[in-house]
Formats: sequence, structure tokens, C-alpha cells
Amino acid sequence: MAQRAQAAPAATERLGSTDRRDAWWLAPALTALGLTVLGAYSFWAALQNAHYEFGPYLSPLYSPKVVAPWWPLSPALLILIPPVLFRATCYYYRKAYYRAFFLDPPACAVGELHLGKYAGERKFPFVLQNLHRFAFYLAFVWLFFLWHDVWKALWFDGRFGIGLGTLVILASTGTLTLYTFSCHSFRHLAGGGLDCFSCSAAARTRHGLWTKLTVLNGHHMGFAWISFFAVTFADVYVRLLSLGVLHDVRFL
Ligand code: FES
Repeated sequence: MAQRAQAAPAATERLGSTDRRDAWWLAPALTALGLTVLGAYSFWAALQNAHYEFGPYLSPLYSPKVVAPWWPLSPALLILIPPVLFRATCYYYRKAYYRAFFLDPPACAVGELHLGKYAGERKFPFVLQNLHRFAFYLAFVWLFFLWHDVWKALWFDGRFGIGLGTLVILASTGTLTLYTFSCHSFRHLAGGGLDCFSCSAAARTRHGLWTKLTVLNGHHMGFAWISFFAVTFADVYVRLLSLGVLHDVRFL
């Protein structure tokens, strides 16, 4: 019996093939650029172990300040483990870097890069992404250190005041707080696992919190980027003050 000729692969089975007519490549390209620039700068700054402090200002990349005599490298490389795990396993960033770097796929309805066996997030190492909620707990604790830095940035030699650096550090911590509070895991923690939102006072309270977190969660991608920029900018600002390149403006 004559065999039928094998069908040619569909257009969407080749990397980048698509019927889309819009600039689908723009978002993954900008994502790759943004993550590369911000990630490379943060890694470089974390390696320096210098110029991360000026007066009452502390770079968020070095907060909390730790003393680890047994650790031969910059302490920032230890300090940043929880925030990096939090971002690396974030539901939004997963989508972003799977598209931008793994091209798997680069966008909806666009041919992907076939890297072999696709197992989703069910096998090592990507199964570890499911630990995101635990990274959230750590990131939540980190917020206390960062808000303490905001408080310290209000005091200049024992006198209350506000400088441009205070606002820069406040912007960094404030946007990080919005990013953390808009996390999908936090939203689930508030309102997940309930069969009835109105059956008890506790359930009603959780529903109220869940509703507010849902509003924040709708802006999670924006908070992810704004907070990354704000943290990086805070480090740049403190570094330039420490190097004597900039002078802090004092408002009070
Ligand atoms: S989902 Fe993005 S930080 Fe939790």
C-alpha cells in the first residue's frame, strides 16, 4: 500500500514562524535587554563590596548589613540570595525569561526553539519553581530590613531630615513592597483554600484582603520592573555619593 507523504511541519513549528503581523518580537527583545542590563549591573555592584553606604543611606543591594568572617567574597552575594530566588521564581518573571531567553516560545502563536524534551515545570531543575511561596516568605522578612533602612535614612547625625537619598531609598523600598504584596503567592495565602468567603468572620476578613491584593496583583508586572529599576537606581545613587561624584540635596 502506498504510503502518504509526510506533512510538512506547520509554520508555527519553526522558531519565529508565525502568522502574526504585529511586532511580537518587541516585548521579548526589550525584556532580554532590560533583564541583562539590570541583572549585570546588580551582579557587578554586588561583587564590589565597596561604596554601598553614604551617611545614613545604605544601598538595598547590601541590606541588611551582615558580618560573615567565614565568607571570603562580598556579603551582598549572600544577602541577595533570598531576593534573587524570589524574582527568579516569580510567576511573571518566569514567563518573561522563558520567552526572552529560552524562546520557548518567544511569544504567543510564534514558533519556539525546540530544546528537546519538554517537561514544563515537572522535572528538575524547573520543578524548583514551585518553591516560590517559600521565597515569598523570605522576601517578606527582607521588607522589615528595608523599611528600617528608610527610617535610618531620615536621620542625619541625630537630626531628623529628608534628603534626595531618603526619597531614593523610600522609592526603592516602597516599590519593592508593592511588588511583594502583589505576588500571586501572597494573594493565594490571603484567599486561597477557602470554600466559602462569607461563612465566618475570618473568611470575610480574608476575602477583603484577597480583594485588595487582587487589585495590586493586576499590576504585578509593572511593579516587577519599577522595583528592579528603583533598587538599581538606589545603588547607583548611593555609589555616586560615596565616590564623591554627586552631592546629596537636603530638603529639611
Ligand atoms: S508571583 Fe511574582 S513575586 Fe510572586
